[in-house]
Amino acid sequence: MSAPDDVMAAYLDATRERRLQRYMDFIRIPSISGIPAHAPDCRRAAGVLASELSEAGLEHAEVCETGGHPVVYADWLHAGPEAPTVLVYAHYDVQPVDPVELWSYAPFEPAIRDGRMLGRGSSDDKAQVQMHVRAAEAMLATRGALPVNLRYIFEGEEECTSEHLDGWLQANRERLAADFAVISDTGFFDGNLPAITVGLRGICYVQIDVEGPTVDLHSGSYGGAVVNPATALCAMVTALKGPDGRIRVPGFYDDVVPLSERDREAFAALPFDEAAWMDEIGVDALAGEAGYTNLERRSARPTLDVNGIWAGFTGDGPKTIIPAHAHAKVSCRLVANQEPAKILAAIRAFVAEIAPPGVRVRVQDLGLGLPSLTPIDHPATQAAARAIEATFGRAPLYYREGGSIPVTASFESTLGLPVVLLGFANPDSRAHAPDESMVLNNFETGIRTIARYWDELAALPVGALRL
Ligand code: BES
Ligand code: MN
Ligand code: MN
Repeated sequence: MSAPDDVMAAYLDATRERRLQRYMDFIRIPSISGIPAHAPDCRRAAGVLASELSEAGLEHAEVCETGGHPVVYADWLHAGPEAPTVLVYAHYDVQPVDPVELWSYAPFEPAIRDGRMLGRGSSDDKAQVQMHVRAAEAMLATRGALPVNLRYIFEGEEECTSEHLDGWLQANRERLAADFAVISDTGFFDGNLPAITVGLRGICYVQIDVEGPTVDLHSGSYGGAVVNPATALCAMVTALKGPDGRIRVPGFYDDVVPLSERDREAFAALPFDEAAWMDEIGVDALAGEAGYTNLERRSARPTLDVNGIWAGFTGDGPKTIIPAHAHAKVSCRLVANQEPAKILAAIRAFVAEIAPPGVRVRVQDLGLGLPSLTPIDHPATQAAARAIEATFGRAPLYYREGGSIPVTASFESTLGLPVVLLGFANPDSRAHAPDESMVLNNFETGIRTIARYWDELAALPVGALRL
């Protein structure tokens, strides 16, 4: 292509080593947003990121207070009023590392092995934060300008339900004005095939607490005559879902948008190797809602799963008690147009109805998030597809992701922006799990994709994005 691209390509080739060092330095900061003791690390990561944005040539880099872990903002707005303005989002916080003994390397001592960067956050989502910084840096260093106007926001509480983000977005609406938003927190399809995510599930996360006698009771002296909170909890959890995989909470499916024939054909056409996938996760049988395929169950249908359950004595050896209380963490993934608050109320009502006498049952709200579907036909999505094809050598697949990024719906409703989910994580990245890693080819080529994307957007007819 044109000369400036060759210059930029050479720049990116020549600066690879330094870029990987920066990426590793960033992973070394244990910015675990969900653990209060790591709040200073989150702040440190935000500070480092703001400096990197400034050094890259972006302007107004700022660590913004939100009431929680800070948001990092920066912009570059010199492409002119005719050029598109894009709001870019990724998150610099990471998940906890437990169970740390199952890692084969130290989570915050990054290293490169077999073409991958290793470390907590190497994929989710520090890779994509770094990729955006490096794409802008390369363009500014070689051309002195960007082809589009860019505003960046990097969040520090995505992994603990983005408590303060909505308020901050609301308060900063003017300075976040844009034509659309790019969220880089998703990945490629099974087998690491280039893909654009066009749907995300929402979430309704609860904790069910069952309380019985005031203290643990001797299971010999009292057993047989009192309601056991652990047994009661198990019975209630079992009642939440039928053997056909259908969730039994009354009203749960009321607002679910059914899959169209076209949707189902699109799912069926995806190149998914179920046997290889089962092998990868180490299971020899599957379960789910009757009448739906694996991919539909995992991304386009709602779920209810126990994430953790505990009660009584769990140490070694026998201790004979009836536990005084029992607890379960239960999450539902939601699809369009389910409303998380309505689902929470439905769960509360059903749990109250099935709770046996003799125990007190409470359902705590551990976090709600809206589902979203993003437009395939939007010119900004199609420009992203061209950028992916130009750099990865293959047109992207379109698929829906089963995970949640609740801020997607906030960008749509609070800021009124369409969203493109442009993400590069490899599906076997082990996000949230031990031994997280990022395929370096996705990282390196993805940086070139982002740069190419800004050029593709700049080449659109003026006003093409202002539909
Ligand atoms: N990056 C993920 C979302 C995601 C998950 C994208 C799977 C693609 C595949 C994000 O960081 C995340 O983990 N989200 C949480 C949201 C929750 C804390 C509200 C999730 O999905 O569990
Ligand atoms: Mn993420
Ligand atoms: Mn995550």
